[in-house]
Formats: sequence, C-alpha cells, structure tokens
Amino acid sequence: MREDIILMMNGEIERIPPVKSDLTLMNWLRNNKNLTGTKEGCAEGDCGACTVVIGKYDYTSKGVGWHAVNSCILFLPMLDGCSIRTVEGLASHTGELHPVQNAFVENHASQCGFCTPGFVMSLYAGWCQSRNLDNAAIDDLFAGNLCRCTGYRPIKQAAFHINNILFEERDTDYRDEEEKFIVENLEREELSIKVKHLDHQIRFDAPRCLQSFQEILYTHNPLILAGGTDIGLWVTKKHMELFHFLYLGNVKELNQFEENEKGFLIGAAITHEVAMQKMADHFKSLQELWRRFGSEQVRASGTVVGNIANGSPIADISPAFIALGASLTLNSAGVVRVIPIDSFFISYGQQDLREGEFVQSIYIPKLKENEVFQSFKISRRFDQDISAVMGAFLLAADNDGLLQKVEIAYGGMAAIPKAALNLSKLLIGQDIENPPIAECRKAIEADFQPISDVRASSEYRYDMALNLLVKAIYNLAGKPMSYLAGADIQQVINTSFVAEHKNG
Ligand SMILES: Cc1cc2nc3c(=O)[nH]c(=O)nc-3n(C[C@H](O)[C@H](O)[C@H](O)COP(=O)(O)OP(=O)(O)OC[C@H]3O[C@@H](n4cnc5c(N)ncnc54)[C@H](O)[C@@H]3O)c2cc1C
Ligand code: FES
Ligand code: FES
Repeated sequence: MREDIILMMNGEIERIPPVKSDLTLMNWLRNNKNLTGTKEGCAEGDCGACTVVIGKYDYTSKGVGWHAVNSCILFLPMLDGCSIRTVEGLASHTGELHPVQNAFVENHASQCGFCTPGFVMSLYAGWCQSRNLDNAAIDDLFAGNLCRCTGYRPIKQAAFHINNILFEERDTDYRDEEEKFIVENLEREELSIKVKHLDHQIRFDAPRCLQSFQEILYTHNPLILAGGTDIGLWVTKKHMELFHFLYLGNVKELNQFEENEKGFLIGAAITHEVAMQKMADHFKSLQELWRRFGSEQVRASGTVVGNIANGSPIADISPAFIALGASLTLNSAGVVRVIPIDSFFISYGQQDLREGEFVQSIYIPKLKENEVFQSFKISRRFDQDISAVMGAFLLAADNDGLLQKVEIAYGGMAAIPKAALNLSKLLIGQDIENPPIAECRKAIEADFQPISDVRASSEYRYDMALNLLVKAIYNLAGKPMSYLAGADIQQVINTSFVAEHKNG
C-alpha cells in the first residue's frame, strides 16, 4: 500500500505526503502550492472560478481524457495518478502566453478578472479536447462559469477566436509527457492514506480491483466516494467530518461501459460525460437532459450511478431510467442481486441498500420498435440548475394511434423519484390524438402529493406534470406545439390556477 499521493502538477511530478482526505484540490493549490490564480467563488461547484483542467485515464476509450473540473469540490487524493493544469501552467517557460490566454487578452474578455482563470481553463479544456467550438458548443463549455462584470459577448468571442486556430496547428507535444505519466500510474500500488486528526484516524482508500473494494466496504463500512459532486458539498457547505472514504474511481471493473444490441451497462465509476457521449445517438432526449445536467465540470466528475445512489427526489437521471425500465446490480461482498430501479427508492433518504452493499452497475434496455422516449427538465435557469419538475415518458402507439406502452416517471413530485402508475395505467389504449386530459390530471393527483418549496408550488408541479405529459403525447402524435393552446388543456390549467389563488 502507498500513502503518498503521486500526481503531475503543471508538468512536474509531485509526491505529496499523506493529507487529511477531505482536503480539497482548490485549498491545496491555493494554501499549499501558493497557486492563487485558481479562485474560490462559491465552493459548491456553481460558479466555475476554481476551474482547473485534469488529465485522467479513461478505461472506456483506453486513453487519457482531458476535462475541466471544479477544484473546490474534489478531494486531493482523488487526483492521485492524474495530471493537473492550472492557469499558472499555461504560459510557456519563456513567459509567452498560451493561445487561449491570448484570445482573452485580444478580445477584451476580462474586467475585474476574478472569473477569468476559470473561463480560461474551461476554454483550455475545449482546446485539449479538440472541440469544434460553434455557438452551442461554446455555451455548453462555459455553462459552469459565471462572470459578473465583463459580459459574455467578448468571452464568447475569445472562444470563437480559438476555433479559428486549426487543430493541426495546435501544439499538443507537451501533453505527451503527462499522458505517459498517467498511463504508467496504472501500474503503481494502490493508495491507502491513514492520518491522525484530533482523536480520529482519517482514511482514504482507493483500491484498483473489485475484490479489495468489496472487502474494505464490508469490513470497515466507509463512505463510498464516486465523483464527489454531492459529497464535496457535505464538506464545504455542511462542514461534516467524514472519517473514511472508499473511492471507487480507480476500480477497473467499475469503470466498465458496455453496449450490445439489447441495452447499455453503466459501471459505478462512469461519469455523466462519458455516458452522455456513448448513449446520445440512441437516446436523443436523454442527451438533451444531460446537456442541462449541472455543467461540463459537474458532468466530468459526477457519476451516473452516484445520481441514483444518492436517492435525491430531484435527481434528473433516476426518473428517466425508471421510465426506461432500468435495473440495478447490487453487490455485497461478492453476493450480487439485480433489482428494478423503481424498487430501489423506498422513502426519502432511504434506498434498498443493505449493509456492506453498493451499486455495481445499472442496465438500461434499448428502445424497441415504435417506442419513443422523451424527457423534459423544468428549472428556473436553463443551465446549472436543479429541476422543479422532471418528466420522463416512454410511449408506443399502434397503427391506429392507440397507446400500447406507457411508462411514465417524474422527479420533483414526491419524496423519491417515482413512477406514475395510475397515470400510465389510465393511458393504455387511449387515442394519442385525443388523450383524456381531465382524467390524467386526476390520475396524477392520485399518484403524487408534491410539496410547495422554494423551487415551485405544489399546484405548479401538478400543472407542469400534466403539461409535460400532453407535450409528450402531442409530440408522439406529430401535432404542432401550438396545439398545446387547445381548449382542453387550457381549461384544466385555468382551473388549477383558480384553485391556487383560492388557496392563497
Ligand atoms: C453544481 C452542481 C450542479 C448539479 N446539477 C445537477 C443536476 O442538474 N441534476 C442532478 O440530478 N444532480 C445535479 N447535481 C448533483 C450531483 O452532481 C449528482 O447527483 C451526481 O450524479 C452525483 O454523483 P457523484 O459521483 O458525484 O456522487 P458522490 O458525491 O460521490 O456520492 C453521492 C452519494 O452516492 C453514494 N454513492 C455513490 N456511488 C455509489 C455506489 N456505486 N453505490 C452506493 N452508493 C454510492 C455516496 O456514498 C453518496 O452518498 C449537481 C451538483 C452540483 C455540485
Ligand atoms: S468556487 Fe465556485 S465552482 Fe468552485
Ligand atoms: S471579469 Fe469580473 S467577474 Fe468576470
């Protein structure tokens, strides 16, 4: 076992003696390395001021992937074996600015400059990924970065500027060294850090194989750490003391992604970004949902399974996978059981996970002939926001336009992500040209009793659940969206607005 973290920092190999396992990458950069170009804005993954670029081994492509990440919610030991670039590491040794930095200067894309290192690093990630930066790609690239004073036009202009530099003209040689280091690291001993802090022993285990992952989990009952995009906030915002992390990112078997003619299998360590790329062609609607999931930084770190395992009632992926009929493989010390995803969510904060058990993978069947999948996320902002309501619809109609298959699930409507069983049952055999909207509303009310909170009132959630359903059915029927203003639905909506006003 190895206790020192070994990583590459702006091109130089670093050997870091054991640290307290919840030390964030951002705090290490700023406080230990004096690399203060990386800024702290929100410390919760929302503003992008702390963005750095990391190179990390990707088992699915068997190569190195370069990603923008939020250093404020990553723990330093998670970066073992990775390469990190900060804004200080972009200029050449002779002080010549990197083309990405130059683009910001030449386009006047900085005013107070607080957000600038984060934006520069996000654009640098796009550069490393050789992305074609058209308007939509730039919006995606910067969705996780906020600027309060420059205005986004010159910032976007800097990105357009970079796009004019041909891929062949971009100097990538210096990344070869980093990629060599990352690949070589796969052969190093596993990391297992133990440090004494006050009266406690703090541990961070990063096994490489499933067998030792299972053993540590079963014997010590540690906290499973995947991408840390939820857990990071428990430390930075809730100030929780977490004593023992079991990191799954380095376990080869959990980095598995498989596709065959029947479906997709996503291992526990697969990030949203990887899954999104691999499933986009088959599930177009899922791709759109993923585009609205956090930001590039969040999707590059957070895992798909982590989104399900945390059991959040507003997790975006869970309702989609319930409607698609996904199943989970759970593993306890090598004993495996497979359950349908909807039975995993028992009640708020309680999932069907036994002691020493973890989610090993998730299986999602492909769409069969005639099946159409649609998902819609309703949030206050387009990017980087949490759903008020999320609706997922798997529908199939026969040649007469009668619904033969209906699987519907919602997020934000109950204490758990949940299937709309009454609604789905009601719709079987119904005409897609003329769905029974008033009855649907009643079925939704039988299925869900949503709460009112800061994101939406309960009535709004009911209305939205119904509207999304109508949208999904009308899409299936090939009716134009203007049809949504039809008398039926309008009447239902008006009725519920009146009800809301009456309730004060
Ligand atoms: C800025 C920001 C934006 C976000 N936007 C969205 C959004 O748009 N939509 C959305 O749904 N979520 C969003 N999230 C929440 C979060 O990114 C997701 O829930 C993410 O998928 C969690 O995965 P993770 O790998 O980071 O989990 P972690 O933080 O590592 O773990 C989360 C929980 O799951 C447990 N866990 C993880 N893996 C396993 C496993 N294999 N078996 C058993 N337990 C496990 C952990 O112990 C922990 O309790 C956002 C978060 C941030 C910080
Ligand atoms: S400090 Fe805001 S995202 Fe990290
Ligand atoms: S330049 Fe001031 S916040 Fe962006």
